[in-house]
Amino acid sequence: MTARTLLLLPGDGIGPEAMAEVRKIIAYMNAERGAGFETDEGLVGGSAYDAHGAAISEGDMKKALAADAVLFGAVGGPKWDAVPYEVRPEAGLLRLRKDLKLFANLRPAICYPALASASSLKPELVEGLDILIVRELTGGVYFGEPKEIIDLGNGQKRGIDTQVYDTYEIERIAGVAFELARTRQNRVCSMEKRNVMKSGVLWNQVVTETHKRSYSDVQLEHMLADAGGMQLVRAPKQFDVIVTDNLFGDMLSDVAAMLTGSLGMLPSASLGAPDAKGQRKALYEPVHGSAPDIAGKGIANPIAMIASFAMCLRYSFNMVADADNLEKAIAEVLDSGIRTGDIMAEGCRKVGTAEMGDAILAAFRKLSA
Ligand code: IPM
Ligand code: MG
Repeated sequence: MTARTLLLLPGDGIGPEAMAEVRKIIAYMNAERGAGFETDEGLVGGSAYDAHGAAISEGDMKKALAADAVLFGAVGGPKWDAVPYEVRPEAGLLRLRKDLKLFANLRPAICYPALASASSLKPELVEGLDILIVRELTGGVYFGEPKEIIDLGNGQKRGIDTQVYDTYEIERIAGVAFELARTRQNRVCSMEKRNVMKSGVLWNQVVTETHKRSYSDVQLEHMLADAGGMQLVRAPKQFDVIVTDNLFGDMLSDVAAMLTGSLGMLPSASLGAPDAKGQRKALYEPVHGSAPDIAGKGIANPIAMIASFAMCLRYSFNMVADADNLEKAIAEVLDSGIRTGDIMAEGCRKVGTAEMGDAILAAFRKLSA
């Protein structure tokens, strides 16, 4: 069997603690299940800046390009607030997305039954919630040029970001959303701001045409992104798959994440286009950030990181049964009343990062037997 190569980039803040729990799962799968994962490791974000003066080194970029998949923890923290913009911790993540051409960001928002009461919304609004946000990840205002601050010479400066989308970029992300919808409830809601943005007008047209041409069996709806945000907190269960641009996707996925009770719960997958052999470049990361306020205390919730590894099993290695079991293991542990501080509830048992990881591994082991 050919090796499965993984590059681990734990990053900053709680990233390394969360990644440690995934390492345990990988070690188990290698030792007892012959999974054949070969892991390498690198630095990204502030930790890379401290070591190399860059948010990711050229050597680690090479490793990322060569790996079957990248597992990413989190980047950033107040320690690096003053570093130059070009080498700020986030630049490492953005470079990985851009250079690996990871245009499709999948952000599922699933509300585990045991956590419905941890949501800021009424439990009946979020119980059983299962939506998938498909966010365009390599275009739009994140990368559009010009992107600069210019001096107008009259005591004023001008900050410029450029929102730009080409047809092919919209087509391919719409395609991903429609394909995924077919494996779910077969419904896609596309969100943009066509009432104020030209890129929104084009987005709407291209999604409509792509649908008509190749995916007319899928139900398609369009929503203005602001109304979409409102609907997400009013009646989130109306959605199945939401497809949207880079910036709206960033915001709407944070909203969706919070619906589920904790930002510490949600994984994501960032995928490139399939190559000739059907392999996609891929990066998996929790939606939560580096949480510097709790870093190093051993209390962070590792579930989003572990669930990101489950997505890796599913999308990069087609290990669907293992992915299912790992997700089931997370649900079982939550059902049993084990909680990290961020999702703690009355009558539950509060544990730290490692104990949560161990409990999930034990449940996964049992399910895999
Ligand atoms: C995310 C994050 C990133 C983004 C930051 C860290 C650059 O918020 O993945 O949602 O804005 O895309
Ligand atoms: Mg974000």
